[in-house]
Amino acid sequence: MNIHVFASGDQLDEACADLIGGIIRIKPRAVLGLATGGTPLGVYRRLIGDYRKGLVSFRHATSFNLDEYVGLPESRPESYHAYMRKNLFDHIDLPLSRAHLPNGNAADLEAECRRYDALVEEAGGIDLQLLGIGHNGHIGFNEPDRELAAGTHLVHLADTTRRANARFFNSIDEVPKQAITMGVGTILKAKMIVLIAKGADKADIVRRALEGPITTECPASLLQTHPRLIVLLDRDAAARLSPPSLKAMKGVDFQTDGYYTDLKVFSTNKLT
Ligand code: PGA
Repeated sequence: MNIHVFASGDQLDEACADLIGGIIRIKPRAVLGLATGGTPLGVYRRLIGDYRKGLVSFRHATSFNLDEYVGLPESRPESYHAYMRKNLFDHIDLPLSRAHLPNGNAADLEAECRRYDALVEEAGGIDLQLLGIGHNGHIGFNEPDRELAAGTHLVHLADTTRRANARFFNSIDEVPKQAITMGVGTILKAKMIVLIAKGADKADIVRRALEGPITTECPASLLQTHPRLIVLLDRDAAARLSPPSLKAMKGVDFQTDGYYTDLKVFSTNKLT
């Protein structure tokens, strides 16, 4: 685990975009795992800026998003298809034919889950998986439970998740009750995982995920088992972490006001 704490959310966004851009530069055909929600928005803005400046091109890359609502037309602005187009895909040169999201309107949702897993396999797996974290510890839409599924599957969204996401809809009644999500098995198979979190409201769950027991009741805690996990936090989200316990963990690089040269080295040295 490699944890970096940034003085501002902007610095975090810059570091994360540099990391993604760095991967694409050393491996133009990289397979990116992408996330939605509020946290990655700044990262996507940076990537668009870098693309416009000619610093990065996605034309050979492939992407897989973590999840999509069930039964919400892709044309609805709240759908993750629409989110990705608005916040990233419409502004960069990633071919839409290789920008994948689960189809939450498929007639046969089980078959759609299997199709999605097969596509990830065919692409050679995910090189870099970007993840946010829900207040309940979910990653993608893998909600806390006694058991978690490995592959892409249909989920019933937790009430807390529907309430948290109601801010993107006119009312909570409009928030779909089901979604398709990549499973934790696929996420953990990514060669590198970048977990990002911002804000004081994430401080408790960040601590549980990174320092607490590994349990399906906090899906993000499973990330502790990943050999190449990079965690990018702003100060508020990192506020409840205990540096002594972090230092005691093997391979942890805990920095405050993190500068990320070593983070770039970490990624470029080990990906290819
Ligand atoms: P957020 O969502 O970035 O909007 O906080 C994170 C998540 O639910 O995974």
